[in-house]
Amino acid sequence: MPVIGIDYEKCNNCQICLNACSGGMRCIKLDSEKHKIIFVDPHLCDSCGRCVGRCPSDAILFEKMGEMPAFEGVQEPSTLVSYESLHKFMISKRSIRGFKNEKIPRNVMEKILNSMKYAPTGANVRTLKVTIISDDDKIKKLSEAVTDALIASNAPGYSEALKKVKQQGKDMIFYKAPHVMVIHSNNPGDAMNSTIGLTYGMLSAQSLGIGSCWIGLAHGVLKSNKEIRENVAGIRGEIWGVIILGYPHNSQKYYRVPPRPELKIKGLEELS
Ligand SMILES: Cc1cc2nc3c(=O)[nH]c(=O)nc-3n(C[C@H](O)[C@H](O)[C@H](O)COP(=O)(O)O)c2cc1C
Repeated sequence: MPVIGIDYEKCNNCQICLNACSGGMRCIKLDSEKHKIIFVDPHLCDSCGRCVGRCPSDAILFEKMGEMPAFEGVQEPSTLVSYESLHKFMISKRSIRGFKNEKIPRNVMEKILNSMKYAPTGANVRTLKVTIISDDDKIKKLSEAVTDALIASNAPGYSEALKKVKQQGKDMIFYKAPHVMVIHSNNPGDAMNSTIGLTYGMLSAQSLGIGSCWIGLAHGVLKSNKEIRENVAGIRGEIWGVIILGYPHNSQKYYRVPPRPELKIKGLEELS
Protein backbone atom coordinates (compact mmCIF):
# COMPACT_ATOMS: atom_id res chain seq x y z
CA MET A 1 0.00 0.00 0.00
CA PRO A 2 1.88 3.09 -1.12
CA VAL A 3 0.33 5.89 0.99
CA ILE A 4 1.31 5.35 4.60
CA GLY A 5 0.61 8.60 6.39
CA ILE A 6 1.03 12.35 6.65
CA ASP A 7 4.26 14.20 7.39
CA TYR A 8 2.94 16.73 9.92
CA GLU A 9 6.22 18.68 9.84
CA LYS A 10 5.40 19.62 6.25
CA CYS A 11 1.58 19.52 6.31
CA ASN A 12 -0.01 23.00 6.48
CA ASN A 13 -3.48 21.47 6.87
CA CYS A 14 -4.69 23.02 3.60
CA GLN A 15 -6.90 19.90 3.25
CA ILE A 16 -6.46 19.67 -0.53
CA CYS A 17 -5.67 15.96 -0.06
CA LEU A 18 -9.09 15.50 1.48
CA ASN A 19 -10.75 16.31 -1.83
CA ALA A 20 -8.07 14.59 -3.87
CA CYS A 21 -8.65 11.27 -2.12
CA SER A 22 -9.85 9.04 -4.94
CA GLY A 23 -13.30 7.86 -5.90
CA GLY A 24 -14.96 8.31 -2.51
CA MET A 25 -12.58 5.78 -0.95
CA ARG A 26 -11.69 8.33 1.67
CA CYS A 27 -8.65 6.89 3.31
CA ILE A 28 -7.77 10.50 4.16
CA LYS A 29 -10.18 12.12 6.62
CA LEU A 30 -10.46 14.90 9.16
CA ASP A 31 -9.99 13.96 12.80
CA SER A 32 -12.97 13.80 15.18
CA GLU A 33 -12.68 17.53 15.90
CA LYS A 34 -12.80 18.19 12.15
CA HIS A 35 -9.57 20.04 12.37
CA LYS A 36 -6.60 17.99 11.37
CA ILE A 37 -5.99 15.76 8.36
CA ILE A 38 -5.45 12.13 9.26
CA PHE A 39 -4.67 9.08 7.18
CA VAL A 40 -7.08 6.46 8.44
CA ASP A 41 -7.14 3.17 6.68
CA PRO A 42 -4.45 1.94 4.33
CA HIS A 43 -6.86 -0.75 3.08
CA LEU A 44 -9.09 1.94 1.60
CA CYS A 45 -6.19 3.40 -0.40
CA ASP A 46 -6.25 2.35 -4.07
CA SER A 47 -2.81 3.91 -4.72
CA CYS A 48 -4.26 6.46 -7.16
CA GLY A 49 -1.63 8.93 -5.96
CA ARG A 50 -3.86 11.97 -6.38
CA CYS A 51 -3.15 13.16 -2.83
CA VAL A 52 0.59 12.84 -3.51
CA GLY A 53 0.26 14.68 -6.81
CA ARG A 54 -1.86 17.51 -5.42
CA CYS A 55 -0.26 18.20 -2.04
CA PRO A 56 1.48 21.61 -2.38
CA SER A 57 3.72 20.83 0.62
CA ASP A 58 4.82 17.36 -0.46
CA ALA A 59 3.57 16.09 2.89
CA ILE A 60 2.06 12.73 1.91
CA LEU A 61 4.17 9.78 3.01
CA PHE A 62 4.18 6.84 0.67
CA GLU A 63 6.17 3.82 -0.30
CA LYS A 64 6.91 2.16 -3.65
CA MET A 65 5.13 4.85 -5.63
CA GLY A 66 7.62 4.89 -8.51
CA GLU A 67 8.65 8.04 -10.32
CA MET A 68 6.36 11.07 -10.15
CA PRO A 69 7.08 13.28 -13.12
CA ALA A 70 6.73 17.00 -12.35
CA PHE A 71 7.11 19.48 -15.19
CA GLU A 72 6.02 22.91 -16.27
CA GLY A 73 2.39 22.70 -17.34
CA VAL A 74 1.42 19.70 -15.21
CA GLN A 75 -0.83 21.98 -13.15
CA GLU A 76 -2.62 23.21 -16.27
CA PRO A 77 -2.47 20.42 -18.89
CA SER A 78 -4.30 22.52 -21.49
CA THR A 79 -1.11 24.60 -21.79
CA LEU A 80 0.89 21.51 -22.85
CA VAL A 81 -0.80 21.00 -26.21
CA SER A 82 -3.37 23.02 -28.12
CA TYR A 83 -6.70 21.52 -29.13
CA GLU A 84 -5.77 22.12 -32.77
CA SER A 85 -2.49 20.20 -32.52
CA LEU A 86 -3.96 17.34 -30.52
CA HIS A 87 -7.03 17.08 -32.74
CA LYS A 88 -4.89 16.96 -35.90
CA PHE A 89 -2.61 14.41 -34.25
CA MET A 90 -5.53 12.18 -33.26
CA ILE A 91 -7.40 12.31 -36.55
CA SER A 92 -4.16 11.55 -38.42
CA LYS A 93 -3.94 8.25 -36.56
CA ARG A 94 -4.32 5.58 -39.24
CA SER A 95 -4.11 1.83 -39.09
CA ILE A 96 -0.70 1.04 -40.59
CA ARG A 97 -0.41 -2.22 -42.51
CA GLY A 98 3.02 -1.99 -44.14
CA PHE A 99 6.33 -1.61 -42.34
CA LYS A 100 10.01 -0.96 -42.92
CA ASN A 101 12.26 -3.90 -42.16
CA GLU A 102 13.51 -2.23 -39.00
CA LYS A 103 13.06 -3.09 -35.33
CA ILE A 104 12.05 -0.47 -32.79
CA PRO A 105 14.98 0.17 -30.42
CA ARG A 106 14.40 -0.89 -26.83
CA ASN A 107 14.60 2.67 -25.45
CA VAL A 108 11.90 3.79 -27.91
CA MET A 109 9.65 0.84 -27.04
CA GLU A 110 10.14 1.77 -23.38
CA LYS A 111 8.79 5.25 -24.12
CA ILE A 112 5.60 3.73 -25.54
CA LEU A 113 5.23 1.44 -22.51
CA ASN A 114 5.86 4.38 -20.21
CA SER A 115 2.89 6.21 -21.77
CA MET A 116 0.71 3.11 -21.44
CA LYS A 117 1.54 2.89 -17.77
CA TYR A 118 -0.29 6.17 -17.14
CA ALA A 119 -3.58 5.09 -18.74
CA PRO A 120 -6.46 5.07 -16.25
CA THR A 121 -7.75 1.76 -14.90
CA GLY A 122 -10.93 0.94 -12.99
CA ALA A 123 -10.38 1.52 -9.24
CA ASN A 124 -6.72 2.05 -10.17
CA VAL A 125 -6.20 -1.72 -10.21
CA ARG A 126 -2.95 -2.31 -12.09
CA THR A 127 -2.96 -5.90 -13.26
CA LEU A 128 -2.29 -5.57 -17.00
CA LYS A 129 0.61 -7.47 -18.53
CA VAL A 130 2.21 -6.75 -21.88
CA THR A 131 4.01 -9.27 -24.08
CA ILE A 132 6.04 -7.94 -27.01
CA ILE A 133 6.85 -10.48 -29.71
CA SER A 134 9.72 -9.29 -31.93
CA ASP A 135 11.23 -12.51 -33.25
CA ASP A 136 10.38 -12.69 -36.99
CA ASP A 137 10.07 -16.48 -36.99
CA LYS A 138 7.76 -16.43 -33.98
CA ILE A 139 5.59 -13.72 -35.56
CA LYS A 140 5.43 -15.77 -38.78
CA LYS A 141 4.46 -18.94 -36.91
CA LEU A 142 1.80 -17.05 -34.96
CA SER A 143 0.44 -15.47 -38.12
CA GLU A 144 0.25 -18.89 -39.82
CA ALA A 145 -1.45 -20.45 -36.80
CA VAL A 146 -4.03 -17.62 -36.63
CA THR A 147 -4.59 -17.82 -40.40
CA ASP A 148 -5.13 -21.60 -40.26
CA ALA A 149 -7.48 -21.27 -37.28
CA LEU A 150 -9.57 -18.67 -39.11
CA ILE A 151 -9.68 -20.76 -42.28
CA ALA A 152 -10.73 -23.82 -40.25
CA SER A 153 -13.44 -21.84 -38.49
CA ASN A 154 -14.98 -20.76 -41.81
CA ALA A 155 -15.07 -17.21 -40.45
CA PRO A 156 -17.51 -15.40 -42.75
CA GLY A 157 -15.79 -12.95 -45.08
CA TYR A 158 -12.32 -14.03 -44.01
CA SER A 159 -11.94 -17.74 -44.62
CA GLU A 160 -11.88 -17.57 -48.44
CA ALA A 161 -9.75 -14.42 -48.53
CA LEU A 162 -7.26 -15.96 -46.12
CA LYS A 163 -7.01 -19.16 -48.18
CA LYS A 164 -5.99 -17.08 -51.24
CA VAL A 165 -3.60 -14.89 -49.27
CA LYS A 166 -1.99 -17.98 -47.73
CA GLN A 167 -1.36 -19.46 -51.19
CA GLN A 168 0.33 -16.19 -52.18
CA GLY A 169 2.55 -16.38 -49.08
CA LYS A 170 1.28 -13.03 -47.77
CA ASP A 171 0.73 -12.18 -44.10
CA MET A 172 -2.80 -10.82 -43.78
CA ILE A 173 -2.73 -11.06 -39.99
CA PHE A 174 0.35 -9.06 -38.93
CA TYR A 175 1.38 -7.61 -42.32
CA LYS A 176 5.00 -8.67 -41.64
CA ALA A 177 5.15 -6.14 -38.78
CA PRO A 178 8.40 -6.20 -36.79
CA HIS A 179 6.55 -6.30 -33.45
CA VAL A 180 3.31 -7.78 -32.13
CA MET A 181 2.12 -6.46 -28.78
CA VAL A 182 -0.36 -8.51 -26.75
CA ILE A 183 -2.03 -7.16 -23.63
CA HIS A 184 -3.33 -9.74 -21.17
CA SER A 185 -4.00 -10.54 -17.52
CA ASN A 186 -6.09 -12.67 -15.21
CA ASN A 187 -8.37 -9.81 -14.18
CA PRO A 188 -11.76 -9.67 -15.97
CA GLY A 189 -11.88 -5.93 -15.20
CA ASP A 190 -9.01 -5.42 -17.61
CA ALA A 191 -11.23 -5.82 -20.68
CA MET A 192 -11.74 -2.05 -20.77
CA ASN A 193 -8.49 -1.03 -19.09
CA SER A 194 -6.50 -2.78 -21.79
CA THR A 195 -8.22 -0.91 -24.61
CA ILE A 196 -7.42 2.42 -23.02
CA GLY A 197 -3.84 1.32 -22.34
CA LEU A 198 -3.28 0.21 -25.92
CA THR A 199 -4.82 3.41 -27.25
CA TYR A 200 -2.39 5.44 -25.13
CA GLY A 201 0.39 3.26 -26.53
CA MET A 202 -0.65 3.68 -30.15
CA LEU A 203 -0.88 7.46 -29.85
CA SER A 204 2.42 7.59 -28.02
CA ALA A 205 3.94 5.42 -30.78
CA GLN A 206 2.65 7.77 -33.45
CA SER A 207 4.42 10.70 -31.76
CA LEU A 208 7.65 8.68 -32.15
CA GLY A 209 7.09 8.03 -35.87
CA ILE A 210 5.83 4.50 -35.25
CA GLY A 211 2.72 3.10 -36.91
CA SER A 212 0.32 0.59 -35.40
CA CYS A 213 -2.86 -1.35 -36.07
CA TRP A 214 -5.34 -3.23 -33.90
CA ILE A 215 -5.42 -6.90 -34.87
CA GLY A 216 -8.85 -8.12 -33.81
CA LEU A 217 -8.43 -11.23 -35.94
CA ALA A 218 -5.48 -12.39 -33.83
CA HIS A 219 -7.21 -11.27 -30.64
CA GLY A 220 -10.23 -13.49 -31.38
CA VAL A 221 -8.11 -16.54 -32.10
CA LEU A 222 -5.75 -16.05 -29.15
CA LYS A 223 -8.72 -15.55 -26.85
CA SER A 224 -10.47 -18.77 -27.85
CA ASN A 225 -7.59 -21.09 -28.83
CA LYS A 226 -5.55 -22.19 -25.82
CA GLU A 227 -3.10 -24.21 -27.90
CA ILE A 228 -2.11 -21.20 -30.04
CA ARG A 229 -2.20 -18.82 -27.06
CA GLU A 230 0.04 -20.92 -24.84
CA ASN A 231 2.20 -22.92 -27.23
CA VAL A 232 2.69 -20.50 -30.13
CA ALA A 233 2.32 -17.06 -28.48
CA GLY A 234 3.63 -18.31 -25.13
CA ILE A 235 1.01 -16.42 -23.12
CA ARG A 236 -1.13 -17.59 -20.22
CA GLY A 237 -4.28 -15.86 -19.02
CA GLU A 238 -6.98 -13.80 -20.73
CA ILE A 239 -6.06 -11.97 -23.92
CA TRP A 240 -7.47 -8.42 -24.05
CA GLY A 241 -5.95 -6.96 -27.17
CA VAL A 242 -3.38 -7.36 -29.93
CA ILE A 243 -1.67 -4.62 -31.93
CA ILE A 244 1.23 -4.48 -34.36
CA LEU A 245 3.94 -1.83 -34.23
CA GLY A 246 6.69 -0.70 -36.56
CA TYR A 247 8.10 2.13 -38.67
CA PRO A 248 5.59 2.73 -41.49
CA HIS A 249 6.63 1.75 -45.00
CA ASN A 250 6.66 4.66 -47.48
CA SER A 251 3.57 3.16 -49.13
CA GLN A 252 1.57 4.02 -45.99
CA LYS A 253 1.54 7.82 -46.45
CA TYR A 254 -1.81 9.62 -46.27
CA TYR A 255 -2.41 12.96 -47.94
CA ARG A 256 -5.70 13.67 -46.25
CA VAL A 257 -7.84 12.31 -43.42
CA PRO A 258 -10.54 9.89 -44.60
CA PRO A 259 -14.09 11.14 -43.93
CA ARG A 260 -15.98 9.71 -40.99
CA PRO A 261 -19.75 9.77 -40.37
CA GLU A 262 -21.05 12.09 -37.71
CA LEU A 263 -21.60 10.61 -34.26
CA LYS A 264 -25.21 10.09 -33.30
CA ILE A 265 -25.60 12.63 -30.53
CA LYS A 266 -28.40 13.53 -28.15
CA GLY A 267 -28.35 16.46 -25.77
CA LEU A 268 -26.10 18.82 -27.70
CA GLU A 269 -29.08 21.03 -28.58
CA GLU A 270 -29.51 21.73 -24.86
CA LEU A 271 -26.18 23.57 -24.75
CA SER A 272 -26.05 27.29 -25.50
C1 LIG B 1 -11.13 -3.49 -32.33
C2 LIG B 1 -10.44 -3.36 -33.66
C3 LIG B 1 -10.02 -4.51 -34.32
C4 LIG B 1 -9.37 -4.40 -35.53
N1 LIG B 1 -8.88 -5.52 -36.14
C5 LIG B 1 -8.18 -5.43 -37.30
C6 LIG B 1 -7.59 -6.58 -37.92
O1 LIG B 1 -7.69 -7.70 -37.42
N2 LIG B 1 -6.88 -6.41 -39.04
C7 LIG B 1 -6.71 -5.18 -39.62
O2 LIG B 1 -6.07 -5.10 -40.66
N3 LIG B 1 -7.27 -4.06 -39.07
C8 LIG B 1 -7.98 -4.15 -37.93
N4 LIG B 1 -8.52 -3.03 -37.34
C9 LIG B 1 -8.32 -1.72 -37.95
C10 LIG B 1 -9.62 -1.16 -38.53
O3 LIG B 1 -9.91 -1.82 -39.74
C11 LIG B 1 -9.42 0.35 -38.73
O4 LIG B 1 -9.22 0.96 -37.48
C12 LIG B 1 -10.61 1.01 -39.40
O5 LIG B 1 -10.76 0.53 -40.72
C13 LIG B 1 -10.44 2.53 -39.46
O6 LIG B 1 -9.22 2.87 -40.12
P1 LIG B 1 -8.13 3.79 -39.40
O7 LIG B 1 -7.70 3.08 -38.15
O8 LIG B 1 -7.00 3.92 -40.39
O9 LIG B 1 -8.79 5.11 -39.09
C14 LIG B 1 -9.17 -3.12 -36.13
C15 LIG B 1 -9.60 -1.99 -35.45
C16 LIG B 1 -10.22 -2.09 -34.22
C17 LIG B 1 -10.63 -0.84 -33.50
